[in-house]
Amino acid sequence: MRKPIIAGNWKMNKTKAEAVSFLQDVKNSVPAADKVDSVVCSPDLFLDALVQEAEGTDVHIAAQNMHFEDNGAFTGETSPAALKDLGVTFVVLGHSERRDMFGETDESVNKKVKAALNHGLTPIVCVGETLDERESDKTNDVVTKQVNGALEGLTEDQVKGIVVAYEPVWAIGTGKTATSEQANDTCSVIRAALANTFSAETADQVRIQYGGSVKPANIQELLGQSDIDGALVGGASLEADSFLKLAEAGD
Ligand code: G3P
Repeated sequence: MRKPIIAGNWKMNKTKAEAVSFLQDVKNSVPAADKVDSVVCSPDLFLDALVQEAEGTDVHIAAQNMHFEDNGAFTGETSPAALKDLGVTFVVLGHSERRDMFGETDESVNKKVKAALNHGLTPIVCVGETLDERESDKTNDVVTKQVNGALEGLTEDQVKGIVVAYEPVWAIGTGKTATSEQANDTCSVIRAALANTFSAETADQVRIQYGGSVKPANIQELLGQSDIDGALVGGASLEADSFLKLAEAGD
């Protein structure tokens, strides 16, 4: 049994006061961490305050990106060592917004995945096709290439610990959710790619989230699919009530 993982990706939203107040509202109400991983993915600026606020609760705090180097002349970047030192436990890597707007590639994602694992952070590796790619029947090839690229050179044990988030680009922030069948089909393709590159046993242990216009009204059906083990949620994770409903759906 793979433990559900429900992650709220705030993207570039909230002030520090709003972030802390959200945590205060949800921290004692999320499901127990042995049943569901409830993760808040915050802008770096609030991570320290959120980790302190979440201490002793069942909420995990995640970064939305990081650099792959430990330190050095990388103005404006955050290192995996600094995230680990703060008490951050997960990090989102290769989100389509970073691939599209900030030049992230499979190669840079691969370096970041390795760096995260070396520092004891759990990567949430995002993959997903554009609308053009889906309409030209390239979805399976695109996600397989992204998964293999991101995980190249990892050991089976390392792969077992990562999380993959399947986020079709055309469903992000658009209100268009992939049907649960479409989402599950592509998550199955991702699991098959993991089995092919690593082993069936490893593929079976990797948690795969769906992301793209997930909300309390559709999460139950998505989580009911055989290869969907959680959700990575943008817009519907910004309000405490809504985040709690999403996390409870994993229970
Ligand atoms: O990372 C989550 C995301 O990209 C999906 O965003 O707003 O469609 O839930 P949204």
